[in-house]
Amino acid sequence: MKSFKVLLLVGLIIGAMGIMSIASTFSIYDWWTAGGEAQAIASVLNMYHQAYPDVTIVQNPVAGGAGVNMQAVIKSLIFAGVPPTTFQVHAGWEMYQYTSANLLQPITNLWQSEGWTSTSVFPERIQQLCSYKGQYYSVPIDVGRANMVWYNKAIFDKLGLTMPTTFQGFIDMLPVIKAAGYTPIALGDSGNWTTAMLFDSTLLAVGGPKFFDQFFSGQIDASNPVVEKAIGYFKTELQYVNSNHASLTWDQACGLLVSGQAAMNIMGDWANGYFKAAGWTPDVNYGGVAVPGTEGVYNLVIDSFELPVGAPDPQNGINWLKLIGSAQAQITFNQIKGSIPARIDVSSAGFDPISAANMTALKKDVLVSSVANGSEVPIAFETDWENALTVIEYHPNMSIQACVNLMNSIIKQDLTPENLAH
Ligand code: GAL
Repeated sequence: MKSFKVLLLVGLIIGAMGIMSIASTFSIYDWWTAGGEAQAIASVLNMYHQAYPDVTIVQNPVAGGAGVNMQAVIKSLIFAGVPPTTFQVHAGWEMYQYTSANLLQPITNLWQSEGWTSTSVFPERIQQLCSYKGQYYSVPIDVGRANMVWYNKAIFDKLGLTMPTTFQGFIDMLPVIKAAGYTPIALGDSGNWTTAMLFDSTLLAVGGPKFFDQFFSGQIDASNPVVEKAIGYFKTELQYVNSNHASLTWDQACGLLVSGQAAMNIMGDWANGYFKAAGWTPDVNYGGVAVPGTEGVYNLVIDSFELPVGAPDPQNGINWLKLIGSAQAQITFNQIKGSIPARIDVSSAGFDPISAANMTALKKDVLVSSVANGSEVPIAFETDWENALTVIEYHPNMSIQACVNLMNSIIKQDLTPENLAH
């Protein structure tokens, strides 16, 4: 009788373990659905599957670059108390929305036990962006570079052009390209974060990184000759984009380079992943360099993942964070994605020449974070800012003074000391 009871108990335990492993899921949200980025996330999910074959992976990709659609879905789930195990979030202000409401779990112990707190592993600025009030909350899987210009080499060769080193040189090239029958700058701003990326790079080129940081932290307002100059350049650039820009996504804009219709686009280095996935070879079919005038500055875009409070099967989330923070996962992911590891302790061997150059640059450049990709400014400001730039875009006759007034009203409303405190 006794042995029967023991057998029954063992049976129940094994049964329960079976149920546990069947029920163990890893649910992840991301917005990587375009060429390059989709394959990149698939590669790391595959690594995860190899390491944890019993865990059911539920990937929830929500299309829309910069998370324009996914972020709304996530906010609803989190505020409804039904978070996934993890989700893609830009480190910095986009993440602070959740940490300031105590909706993410601190993972400082993980950072320490994995040795990630060393600045020879992750640069200090990246560590800060993944932290809030002295605790770490997310793990970066990559570093994107926002201030990149991509160009079709065949068009450049045909027109005898080389990428200039100054921003004025870049602007001077636009009418030349247009006269030859090509779209000078491909733009796909069905999501208006890409318009903001154009302004980010323009302001960086004109004002430099210190000015950029001061402007976006409300220390300098738009009634400044540097901002006025950047607005002027921005308006000029917009005269040289494809007329169907509002109906295209960022990757469709990249497609205009591949099809030979457009000569250039200003886009983060996820474009590099797109071009490679489209069958182009870096430095053969296309080039990618820092936007002229921004050499020596790295405009950071940091995709990271975290563990929400109440995450189902949290150990699966911890295992994911451990994996994406590892050198091997960062290498695998970024070689496909076109971005680079957030870790600076990995070799650039095996990376394409554009990514390899960025890996060198990350170690020595001045680092600033991206407005259009959730890191540099409070999200309320980012939204109003992107809408303001869209208003300027659609009203080409707006005077510089009117643009300045519009920007100042947003700065005054959204970049208040209370909003900037975190
Ligand atoms: C950015 C993101 C990149 C890339 C891009 C387009 O916001 O940080 O990793 O995915 O959107 O989807």
